[in-house]
Amino acid sequence: MSDLLKVTINHLFGDNAEMGSQIRSELEKLQPNYLDLFEEFRTSLAAERFPLTLPFTEAGRIPQIKSLAAEIRKRYYNVLLIGIGGSSLGARAIMQFLKGPYYNLDHRPRLFILDNIDPVLAHKLEGILDFSSTAFIYISKSGSTAESAANFNYFFRKYREAGGNPRDVMIICDQADNGINRIARDLGCHLLFTPRELGGRYSVLSCVGFLPAEIMGIDCMQLLEGAAAVRRMIMDQQPGDNVLLNLALQLFTLARQGRSIHVLFNYSSLLADFGLWFMQLWGESLGKKMSLNGDVIRAGTTPLSAIGATDQHSLLQLFAEGPQDKVYGFVKVEEPPCDLKIPGEFPQEDEYAYFEGHTMNQQLHIQQLATEISLFQDGNPCYRVTARDYSPETLGAMFFFYQALTVFSGALWGINPFDQPGVEAGKNITYALMGRQSYADRREQYEAQVARYEGTRTPIV
Ligand code: PA5
Repeated sequence: MSDLLKVTINHLFGDNAEMGSQIRSELEKLQPNYLDLFEEFRTSLAAERFPLTLPFTEAGRIPQIKSLAAEIRKRYYNVLLIGIGGSSLGARAIMQFLKGPYYNLDHRPRLFILDNIDPVLAHKLEGILDFSSTAFIYISKSGSTAESAANFNYFFRKYREAGGNPRDVMIICDQADNGINRIARDLGCHLLFTPRELGGRYSVLSCVGFLPAEIMGIDCMQLLEGAAAVRRMIMDQQPGDNVLLNLALQLFTLARQGRSIHVLFNYSSLLADFGLWFMQLWGESLGKKMSLNGDVIRAGTTPLSAIGATDQHSLLQLFAEGPQDKVYGFVKVEEPPCDLKIPGEFPQEDEYAYFEGHTMNQQLHIQQLATEISLFQDGNPCYRVTARDYSPETLGAMFFFYQALTVFSGALWGINPFDQPGVEAGKNITYALMGRQSYADRREQYEAQVARYEGTRTPIV
């Protein structure tokens, strides 16, 4: 495919003739429908009708993002970014993959991303940040997410107390008539709008991911170029050879054969946050009770991110000998920016001598291959994504590949991959119990539910 990503899917049938033939026959049954669905998907992609293609139509806003980021780089020692889910996971993945886990130790401005509501975390951060030299960014598409709104309240107060100017606060949200928009306008904060149709988990290739990327000195145009290369590949490959189409189809077929867990085994520590981003994307997009036709179908598979080789020492035993309900996507990065020779310091000892002449990257790749082969030989379906390097183009390609795979998988399942109705119930109970005015009429009902569940009449708040 593109030189940024190579995806090999020929081991998805597993090394098991019976399973292979069942899957082939399922695939044949799907044949009449899937091509139409795929052509529909490609037409939407080409016509830029999809929320997914908005990053490309958004490219015109990049100069504004770049100049804002340049200003922040010049003026500040720290950046505090508050956001959760799709409003922070992309930035985390970018930071870790392109800058590594120790970025804040020797780069300025340091970037702190706060997602969870957690007094211990917030307190620690408060001790680290000097607000007179901290840029403050708040990202919430809806502006109403409880964790982010609470953190914003808390840190905005601290920021103001330290003499921070509200005009310097940057807010990224939806262009809707909502509270955060009114606050931003009243205070005169910098406002950037997320594209209306773009849900959080699809927003990394917009100002949501681009502003933090540019603050770290990463050219967001390169992220976009990587995404564009994958889009070209999806459009150009014939259906028979189309990696995206065939991977989605096989994952869908395997799911219906009981392979209900999609493991992404990332052979790089710098992909840990990409793995979290993937889990949100796959889980929140495909896990749906209802089909578009209104039938209860309980769609989706459970995403699970693992890190190789580390998790060979925790999860691999389960993968190898536990229930055979998983599909494995192995991700490896071909060219690290540096490689290190491992010396054979102790030639007299068998367990230490054999490293002589090998490099760390070589060992990582050998361990990846060994794990993949061992799982495959025991009948487990495996595919492999080989990323070219640790560059913004490659990361942009990976983001777009998995977004497109998710959206097309949604079409196969017959669900809406852009909504998340299942998270509303818990949110509503939270709002009502926390005393949000517009939820007052439901408070009594939820309190009764809580009391029944907890087996007590004592109010919890
Ligand atoms: O993908 C999504 O839409 C969600 O995961 C959101 O990103 C998450 O709930 C945060 O929402 P918001 O950006 O509105 O604060």
